[in-house]
Amino acid sequence: MGKRLRLSLLGITGIVLSCSFAVGSLAVTYPKVPNPPAKYPAGELGKMVKLGENIIMHTNTNPLTKNLVGNKLNCTSCHINGGRTKALGTFIGTALSFPAYSKREKTVQTLQDRINNCFMRSMDGKRPVIDTKASVAMAAYVTWLSEGLPIKMNPKKPVNPYYTNLWPNKKLNPIIKSATHKNYVRGKEIYENRCASCHGTGGQGNRQFPPLWGKNSYNTGAGMSKIGKMASWVLYNMPLGNPNLSEKDAVDVSIYVDAQPHSDFDLTKHLFPRSEMGYYNSKVLHERHNVRSNFAKPWGLDIDKIRGDHKIKGSSINP
Ligand code: HEC
Ligand code: HEC
Repeated sequence: MGKRLRLSLLGITGIVLSCSFAVGSLAVTYPKVPNPPAKYPAGELGKMVKLGENIIMHTNTNPLTKNLVGNKLNCTSCHINGGRTKALGTFIGTALSFPAYSKREKTVQTLQDRINNCFMRSMDGKRPVIDTKASVAMAAYVTWLSEGLPIKMNPKKPVNPYYTNLWPNKKLNPIIKSATHKNYVRGKEIYENRCASCHGTGGQGNRQFPPLWGKNSYNTGAGMSKIGKMASWVLYNMPLGNPNLSEKDAVDVSIYVDAQPHSDFDLTKHLFPRSEMGYYNSKVLHERHNVRSNFAKPWGLDIDKIRGDHKIKGSSINP
């Protein structure tokens, strides 16, 4: 057995085989995520994998998905390099844990379900119909990135096995729970010094860099709109190319960004009418969130006190 394969097997079984990466002063532990496969599969399967890759990179413009996306993001905006990254948000290993039980839907979710659900939240759009070409292609691509790795089913949550315990990172919870207006002010400072040069002072992004808030970004049902998840992700990924924030700074900047306007989430608005949407594998048909509720639950934070104003109403920006 080659060294790489042996390491990856151990990594998946969750044995402590992680190491601290020596990138800058990175405050995170990297699990041993193997390399993505070097070659596409042959024939029709290979074509499908490549189509899926194109959709993940260009979700917003690919003819099969552009009408399903409601903002200016692509999957690759968060699953960096189309999920070929080894940082949190990687798709290498993701297919290993599916089908997996999801508390959110209260059903066992397939990889296609999981992928399709991202359209409603992170992409603020419509859930694709299951088994359409786009849905099959994305699942083929994500599955290919785990080629050769052993299955690792998860009865508790539908998450990549390499990052099960890091997404979200529970070490951050005490910092979030005790947050005050000071964290927000500090978050604004970090944003302006470390983020705004790319994402814009108003979080609006531009042609090259994706928006972080407003109607063109993720909505309040997205993982990124939850402070703990955003901070966990930021630790590994931002500032792009030099992710070196401390845990406290990652939390503060996430508090600042998630306290800006993001569209309200109402699950029913992201599903096609029953007659068109095909089978929806979920027992939960109603779910709502807004900026205020995301701070209140589970953190017990009052958005007005955190911001120090009353600018966020019960509902925030609604495009
Ligand atoms: C705004 C950022 C963002 C965008 C855009 C986004 N995702 Fe995600 N994605 C996340 C976060 C955060 C999670 C983890 C969420 C959680 O655990 O609740 C996640 C989890 C997933 C997972 C679960 C597997 C894993 O590795 O844990 C899949 C599959 C996935 N996304 C696919 C997609 C696809 C396909 C798209 C494009 C249609 C997409 N995502 C767009 C942020 C994003
Ligand atoms: C050098 C430019 C650059 C800097 C600086 C930067 N980002 Fe990003 N960020 C990007 C790019 C580019 C992407 C999308 C990745 C892609 O498409 O490959 C991104 C994606 C994101 C996303 C997910 C997509 C979205 O729009 O919601 C978040 C959240 C984010 N950045 C937060 C931050 C935060 C917080 C900081 C500061 C700590 C920061 N970024 C600094 C370039 C940058």
